[in-house]
Amino acid sequence: MAHNDTILIQISGVSYRYPGSAQPVLDDLSLTFREQDRLGLIAPNGSGKTTLFHLIMGLIKPDQGTIEVFGKKVEKPRDFIPVRRKIGLLFQDSDDQLFSPTVMEDVAFGPMNQGKTREEAIEISRKTLAFLGLENFEERITFKLSGGEKRLVALATILSMEPSILLLDEPTTGLDARTKSRLIDILNHLNLARIVISHELEFIQSVTDHIYTMENGRINLDEELHIHQHHHVHRHGKQPHKHV
Ligand SMILES: Nc1ncnc2c1ncn2[C@@H]1O[C@H](COP(=O)(O)OP(=O)(O)OP(=O)(O)O)[C@@H](O)[C@H]1O
Ligand SMILES: [Mg+2]
Repeated sequence: MAHNDTILIQISGVSYRYPGSAQPVLDDLSLTFREQDRLGLIAPNGSGKTTLFHLIMGLIKPDQGTIEVFGKKVEKPRDFIPVRRKIGLLFQDSDDQLFSPTVMEDVAFGPMNQGKTREEAIEISRKTLAFLGLENFEERITFKLSGGEKRLVALATILSMEPSILLLDEPTTGLDARTKSRLIDILNHLNLARIVISHELEFIQSVTDHIYTMENGRINLDEELHIHQHHHVHRHGKQPHKHV
């Protein structure tokens, strides 16, 4: 089998309905995600993108269908222990990710939880923070960080666990243009399989190879999206101008 044929995540016929809601959010969704895949998802609010990530991580359980990660069916809480070691989920809301008083404690938490010594965890956290350009953030108080700073620190908490797959849920939220392009550089220096959810076309096409949308609770794999850049000059005039 060729290296990049290895299936990392296999989702087969997964359906999920939140308790108390009438409609399923995901309905018979299937996806084969292979080594070195860099997949983008662009879909309207409420279409189930975040729900899909939560199912992969075992935060919620499918009503129907199966999920296999690294060739193993994941069902019981115990099955997800290796999954959470190898898949780094960047939560849509950074406040769901950050819970320690200081940045260093937050970034070192994952590696320590994986059995690294305190010294090893601090060492890897320092390297990760430096890689993200956050050298001086170690002693910063997490809850006092700005939204964009939290986004990068949240990414650091994932990268310090040295995952082999990244699931990034709207990573650019709150990032200014310069930080966004820094994030593009960072992600392109990481040779990691990834699924990236974003509403930002330019960003998503910079960090993924294939982009799909979600419809009716499924990923529309029949239709790959090709984004064309739209460059033009605006006149200051009376004519209104619409973008499609
Ligand atoms: N805990 C919950 N309980 C009930 N319904 C929920 C819950 N979480 C999400 N939903 C509903 O499920 C649907 C899908 O939500 P989800 O967060 O997966 O969408 P999304 O595609 O990530 O949207 P967005 O682009 O806004 O982040 C929405 O209609 C949402 O209201
Ligand atoms: Mg979402």
